[in-house]
Amino acid sequence: MTNNAPSENLPIIHDGIIDPPHDVEVLSADEFKLAFRNHPAGVAIVTADAGKGPVAMTVTSVFSVSAEPPLLVFSASAQSSATPTIAEADTVVIHLLGADQLHLAKLAATSGANRFPDDIAWEKLPTGETVYSEAHAWIRGRTVNKLKAGNSTVFLIEALEAKTPAEGSSELDASAAHPLVYHNRTWHKLDSNSKLDA
Ligand SMILES: Cc1cc2nc3c(=O)[nH]c(=O)nc-3n(C[C@H](O)[C@H](O)[C@H](O)COP(=O)(O)O)c2cc1C
Repeated sequence: MTNNAPSENLPIIHDGIIDPPHDVEVLSADEFKLAFRNHPAGVAIVTADAGKGPVAMTVTSVFSVSAEPPLLVFSASAQSSATPTIAEADTVVIHLLGADQLHLAKLAATSGANRFPDDIAWEKLPTGETVYSEAHAWIRGRTVNKLKAGNSTVFLIEALEAKTPAEGSSELDASAAHPLVYHNRTWHKLDSNSKLDA
């Protein structure tokens, strides 16, 4: 066995799909969901365009992996209509939402909804991607790796460009920013009431 060979106790990857070893009893889906019920997550929207028009999908699976190099990941379910386009596009835009963008989060999570209607402000970047103008922060990045995991694909994104809160903006002040959070199937707004005096 070389140092790179998988340990017998680690999950096996077959055709990009992670399979647990057959002799290991895994958690039921219900128990798994219950364990995560009290684990809140920030809300983001991923947009992508593979040349046939933009798609948008609300996600809570975004997390930052490394600042140097600038890497993040998110996962996209095979059941989400935007996933094939996200997989085909070279680049994506990840919008990190505040509570005042709740309507965008709901829109991009609604099956069958037009994600770019006339009453929502969106624009094309010079590089071709579509962004929601209202988002205080977004990151444009390119997919550098994909991992099929169960019924989802995990996308590893290298950040190329970002829109960040303007200098002097209240968004830069953690106590004034109002991130949009999803917890126990409910939308939440972080504000001074949620701040702990630690
Ligand atoms: C708060 C929230 C978080 C979500 N996070 C993800 C996610 O991380 N990955 C994913 O594939 N779908 C996620 N979804 C589901 C997609 O947003 C949803 O399936 C999709 O947009 C529904 O539209 P569709 O029928 O066009 O796919 C999430 C939905 C909500 C409401």
